[in-house]
Amino acid sequence: MEHPDSILIVDFGSQVTQLIARRVREAGVYSEIVPFQSAEAAFARINPAAVILSGGPASVVDENSPRIPQAILDSGLPMLGICYGQQALTEQLGGKVEKGDSGEFGEAFITVEGECSLFDGLWATGERHQVWMSHGDKVTALAPGFRVVATSPGAPYAIIANEERRIYAMQFHPEVVHTPDGAKLIANFVRHVAGLSGDWTMAEFRAAKIAEIREQVGSAKVICGLSGGVDSSVAALLIHEAIGDQLTCVFVDGGILRQGEAEQVVSLFRGHYNIPLVHVDAQDLFMDGLAGVTDPEAKRKFIGKTFIDVFEAEAKKIGGAEFLAQGTLYPDVIESVSFTGGPSVTIKSHHNVGGLPERMNMKLVEPLRELFKDEVRVLGRELGLPDVFVGRHPFPGPGLAIRIPGEVTRERCDILRKADAIYLEEIRKAGLYDAIWQAFAVLLPVRSVGVMGDGRTYDSVLALRAVTSVDGMTAQAFDFPGDFLPRVTTRIINEVKGINRVVYDYTSKPPGTIEWE
Ligand code: XMP
Repeated sequence: MEHPDSILIVDFGSQVTQLIARRVREAGVYSEIVPFQSAEAAFARINPAAVILSGGPASVVDENSPRIPQAILDSGLPMLGICYGQQALTEQLGGKVEKGDSGEFGEAFITVEGECSLFDGLWATGERHQVWMSHGDKVTALAPGFRVVATSPGAPYAIIANEERRIYAMQFHPEVVHTPDGAKLIANFVRHVAGLSGDWTMAEFRAAKIAEIREQVGSAKVICGLSGGVDSSVAALLIHEAIGDQLTCVFVDGGILRQGEAEQVVSLFRGHYNIPLVHVDAQDLFMDGLAGVTDPEAKRKFIGKTFIDVFEAEAKKIGGAEFLAQGTLYPDVIESVSFTGGPSVTIKSHHNVGGLPERMNMKLVEPLRELFKDEVRVLGRELGLPDVFVGRHPFPGPGLAIRIPGEVTRERCDILRKADAIYLEEIRKAGLYDAIWQAFAVLLPVRSVGVMGDGRTYDSVLALRAVTSVDGMTAQAFDFPGDFLPRVTTRIINEVKGINRVVYDYTSKPPGTIEWE
């Protein structure tokens, strides 16, 4: 499909390429990300208004490192090169790039040395601005027609420009939040330089995705696994809007859901939306299979595999479904997939991506794959999802199982469910739910001695976690007001049999992750 009002983003494998797309969306412009290997074909197909070249882990100095397709270089379109994109542009247009001995990582300050269209209404000559650097190699000689418009102590070519050809390139990453004006630089590129109007909205994303889903699926049947979370709900609504009753939603209760979750999901889908929903009670299957499993990855793999088993069985019952729909988001993709040779190592195999068994014989429909959580919420509102649902904290596919380090049993799930419900109830009562990205309890495989009444207790320890975050990629522990944690602790120990001690987890991500497993 042609998109002459769009930006083509050529991905050279950076961890943060999706953030470029996000910034372009925030500027009200449609974009598509394509891997550098297929950039030439995508460029011809999409016919974009401008091109952004991402960063990446390779070194342009090395033989066989990725290159910008010649057709893009020759097109005369505006281009913005970021980090590796800057180096590739320089190298291919006749400048020079050298391997750095040490590189430059983290916060840096650049000085604006000259005017250019990227800075319109934003930066003036002589000003200093904070940016975020992450590079080893650097440009050492400009390609003909370029001049330096910003410098930093470690990068004399921090931003370079060829105004005549409308090509701009920077050594730092404007797409990350640690470059405070980065989003505005990108907005200037897509609006002022590329001349796009900036009137693209989530409503158009919805329309475009609906068309895409119809094209991908045709007249085939689709099964969607609902987890009770925002992502799978939004994915299901979008797909239902695209293909109506070709979609069957399956909600699997493996005994690892939160309290009241099943009822809420069933009433939302069947009652509110009238979308066909199969509610499968698979508690025995999950609990039997989890017996004796203590390794976090083994749990995730088992749960992923078992979900697929159940979906496949349900698919058979409806006469076969060719597709499985999932609410996979971008952070799930980036943390689960290790690009060959790239820096993005596998942290955890999220069950809706990396844990999919090879033998699965359904194709995937993942309409939210390029979105971040807050964007999914905007889309959810666009689709009329009730606010209480849109605002729900994220809940992982493997559910309570990854919040019970050690062996998962029915009894431990029940204990955790009760404690978790009290914690969340108190958070809502205190009016803190929306200020927190995610709050939950973790039932530890540790017992401690306590005293209750006149008796000795020897019961489990519960950890409480609450974090703030923008997109789940990084997170900070939430600071509860003074008497909140003692109050919740007392309630949990009094009301939940099996727990006699409560602790609070203050770890940030990184170095921690949000979930414990
Ligand atoms: P971590 O623990 O990796 O979590 O810092 C980041 C965010 O992702 C959620 N999460 C998952 N979501 N399937 C999901 O759908 C999974 O396997 C999974 N593991 C973690 C986690 O709750 C947090 O919001």
